[in-house]
Amino acid sequence: MDKNSTEHLQQHFYALKLTKKEQLTKSTFALEFEVPDLLKSNFQFQSGQYVTVKIPTENEMLFQDYSITSAPYESTLSLGIKVKSAKSAAQILVQNFEVGDTLQISEPTGRFTLKSKPNEHRTILGFAAGIGITPILSHLKNILHQEPRTRFFLFFSLKNPLEIIYKETLEQLQKMYGNRFQIFYFFSQEGAENPLFEGRLSEKKLQLIINQILIYEEDDAETTIWDSTDEVLICGPGEMIKTVANACNKFGIPRKNIHFELFDTFDGDIFTSEKKIPLLENIETTIQLSGKNYDFVFKNNQEKILTQLLALGLEVPYSCKSGVCGNCICTLKEGKVELLENEYLTPKEEKEGKILACQSIILSKKINLNFDDV
Ligand code: FES
Repeated sequence: MDKNSTEHLQQHFYALKLTKKEQLTKSTFALEFEVPDLLKSNFQFQSGQYVTVKIPTENEMLFQDYSITSAPYESTLSLGIKVKSAKSAAQILVQNFEVGDTLQISEPTGRFTLKSKPNEHRTILGFAAGIGITPILSHLKNILHQEPRTRFFLFFSLKNPLEIIYKETLEQLQKMYGNRFQIFYFFSQEGAENPLFEGRLSEKKLQLIINQILIYEEDDAETTIWDSTDEVLICGPGEMIKTVANACNKFGIPRKNIHFELFDTFDGDIFTSEKKIPLLENIETTIQLSGKNYDFVFKNNQEKILTQLLALGLEVPYSCKSGVCGNCICTLKEGKVELLENEYLTPKEEKEGKILACQSIILSKKINLNFDDV
């Protein structure tokens, strides 16, 4: 996830020593950092969270977010990174930093988290594509460790078997947790005995796989595996999240139980909305951003607020554009909006008037937004 630079001004960074650097596949690496006792409380985290790493280059400072792969009960801070190109921040990181070096790392953050329920008997489905396994791995370890009766089914999409990231760790977890943990691989560039596991995951495939493979236990009160699924965790690119999230929702899993983390900007909505928005024109708009006030008139309300502000050239913070990361959070001081998608704001924040500009449509002739008081 890349963020607008102003976002990093609010973060606290600390120097941590790199204690392990391991190549996992051709283009992925695991990094482990030592957290000194003095900083233990700063680096407490929940599964699903990420840190930002400052990566110095000759000309500038790069900020890159990486998901934490260790679980909170483990005493390490481990990250998984993928080198996408020879000039990427990740490439500079693996090339220029060795064990023993220090890096500036932010306190953990992020809301792709799940409440632990050690006394319950849950069924959790995880869907990961490529490096999207990283936050899911932390969840997986934590859930299996903390919840002795919970079952976890992992669906992991990759190009081919050589690209299986964290293969050994996943095999060890399978040995340790037996029937409570099962993995199903999908290889987009490799044939499989069962054609269901070839190519991309579609809604139809997902339905067939879940119905055919997952077995709900006889003493479950529910009647289908979809009914007995408590939570779904998804991480990968936007299109994959959209397919899986909508399919799960269609087959009966409530949206509040479908959690996702986007690893790229996604120009679209994860859940398809059928809401009809009444047309409003000439909307008087006031924005407070980075200490400045802006007044202008929006032509109409048919685009989301963030889209309109970016078109005007305003440097509004954003990352995912899908209501997931929270970077575009602002306070609605006056006016009314429809928040189409929200995977970030808590009910308390919504009550306080917080909205996500990337997913808000204006429903009043006048609007006043403040991006500074969040
Ligand atoms: S840009 Fe991510 S929530 Fe709006």
